[in-house]
Amino acid sequence: MISQQTIDAIFQAAHVEDIIEEFVHLTKRGVNLKGLCPFHDEKTPSFTVSPARNIYKCFGCGKGGNAVTFLMEHEGLSYPETLRYLANKYNIPIEETALPEEYEFEKQERDSLYLINAFARDFYGKQLFETDLGKSIGLSYFKERGLLRKTLDSFELGFASTNRDELTKTAIQAGYNIDLLRKLGLTNDHDRDFFFNRVMFPIHNLSGKVVAFAGRHLINDKKSPKYINSKESDIYHKSKVLYGLHLAKQAIRKEDYCLLVEGYTDVLSLHQSGIENVVASSGTALTVEQIKLIKRYTRQIKILYDGAAAGTKAALRGIDLVLEQDMNVELVLLPASEDPDSYIKKVGVTSFRDYLDQEAKDFILFKTNLILKEAGNDPVKKSCFN
Ligand code: CTP
Ligand code: MN
Repeated sequence: MISQQTIDAIFQAAHVEDIIEEFVHLTKRGVNLKGLCPFHDEKTPSFTVSPARNIYKCFGCGKGGNAVTFLMEHEGLSYPETLRYLANKYNIPIEETALPEEYEFEKQERDSLYLINAFARDFYGKQLFETDLGKSIGLSYFKERGLLRKTLDSFELGFASTNRDELTKTAIQAGYNIDLLRKLGLTNDHDRDFFFNRVMFPIHNLSGKVVAFAGRHLINDKKSPKYINSKESDIYHKSKVLYGLHLAKQAIRKEDYCLLVEGYTDVLSLHQSGIENVVASSGTALTVEQIKLIKRYTRQIKILYDGAAAGTKAALRGIDLVLEQDMNVELVLLPASEDPDSYIKKVGVTSFRDYLDQEAKDFILFKTNLILKEAGNDPVKKSCFN
């Protein structure tokens, strides 16, 4: 736990205007600073920062607080994460005091889970770049898909070899606990590796720590699922994660919209082409928690799904939820049998961007048209809709 002395020093050092200026363009108005509120949509600035009182207040939506509450709300950080962020920014050494025992145990266990995932990420990375098998199978697979070294590094991609207990053995030799390896789903009940002979995609939380993995098979084998994922654990709740968000958040804020795709490789491919405000729902229906994650950075979502019927349905499932969260939703449907990855490769980034602009349809209008189309000439269905 961070000591009270450290907390006091952080609060003293943290000037609200310093912090907020990193995220909001502020201009001087008398003794205060004003800008467009980052928490609601507005055209004229009602977001006010008072350096003298070290607080902010929005006269439009009512949100207000200090440097710490701003970071917690805007960046989605927890209280301790915010304190650490500020301590780092202002070079304040952190003094820790002991936690009550039961918290200490839980915290230690979570920390260990993160450490093991970091170890596994490094292990799979080494397998990819430094072993013959990794290079000849994994690396050549990624290359074939057009992924550059820079992208592999940014997303920390890796390779799990055909050897079925290599990760488990190496982790145990390095002193990691087998029970925790099992808790993370990296090791199965027979002490063998869960992931083998797959290319590996670490899944990160908002701050970039690895919470889980997805592994893709390398051959189109109908018998094994294309992707397998780590099971849920104390640090991984599938419904609360968006793939790629840790690398997308700045761009989402800057562009003021989030592009939502279905697949891991779609994120990689668009990011590599310079479209960085992109995250993936990983093939599942969107959840409220995922939408709330996006809402920290923007209120506009562009959903980019396969033109195929299945894609349309998956897209539709999540969207009512998004609307309930008071977000603006546009839908972009790709030509049939294309996904964002294949389509950007086919037409190039400029045409891809044009397509996004031209084809984006307001979701409510889209749905209306769809229902009308389904109703066809059936007068009963049509009148139900009216
Ligand atoms: N998915 C999954 N498990 C599967 C199939 C799919 O978790 N067995 C998720 C993955 O997140 C995947 C997304 O659904 O990225 C979309 O699936 P799909 O379109 O089949 O895969 P792509 O992402 O297009 O993968 P690739 O381009 O490598 O074929
Ligand atoms: Mn694909």
